[in-house]
Amino acid sequence: MSGKVDPAVTRKVLAFAASNSSVSINRMLVAYAASLLHEAKVEFLDIHDYEMPIYRHDREQADGIPAPAHAFLAEIGSADALLISFAEHNGLYSAAFKNLFDWCSRVDRNVWQGKPMVLLSASPGPGGAARVLALAETAAPHFGGEVRATLSVPKFGEAFDAENGVLRDPEMVVRLQAALTKL
Ligand SMILES: Cc1cc2nc3c(=O)[nH]c(=O)nc-3n(C[C@H](O)[C@H](O)[C@H](O)COP(=O)(O)O)c2cc1C
Repeated sequence: MSGKVDPAVTRKVLAFAASNSSVSINRMLVAYAASLLHEAKVEFLDIHDYEMPIYRHDREQADGIPAPAHAFLAEIGSADALLISFAEHNGLYSAAFKNLFDWCSRVDRNVWQGKPMVLLSASPGPGGAARVLALAETAAPHFGGEVRATLSVPKFGEAFDAENGVLRDPEMVVRLQAALTKL
């Protein structure tokens, strides 16, 4: 299925995978989801371009907040909506995303800046990274995020046709389309 969907408002969507892998399945998922958005301008971001040393109180006191945290916040600020897919590491965020988020929260706790968000997750196993997705959904309002919909994709190796970059299961595609209309 390849039916495109209109988000609630046509505008700029910032899309990224909260993963620390260069072969991220969450990046594949977010790219596919973005391809379903009709008439929205999608900007992809790689969180590795915002890599910083591990957050430390002492480091912040000595050197301040690194420029990539400000740059990442500016990217969020320039978007009208956010599309994020979360990798799950031991039930939690990947360290790469958590570190970026921690630094950003030191600039402004309102990290998500009131943006509408659709949150996704994928894992190779049956859990679909649902634990980190629930965590992200619960946390988002505390950081200025307005979560419109979530979707977890389990058994990604089976669920996703990597050659063609599409989800195989038509029902899952319909669920993803429904989520994206809420953006
Ligand atoms: C340190 C580590 C911990 C992980 N913990 C989980 C986990 O708790 N739940 C899960 O479903 N998968 C877990 N995985 C497997 C990831 O889901 C898998 O590596 C997935 O590809 C990560 O998404 P990404 O490819 O987008 O980075 C873990 C992987 C690593 C490296």
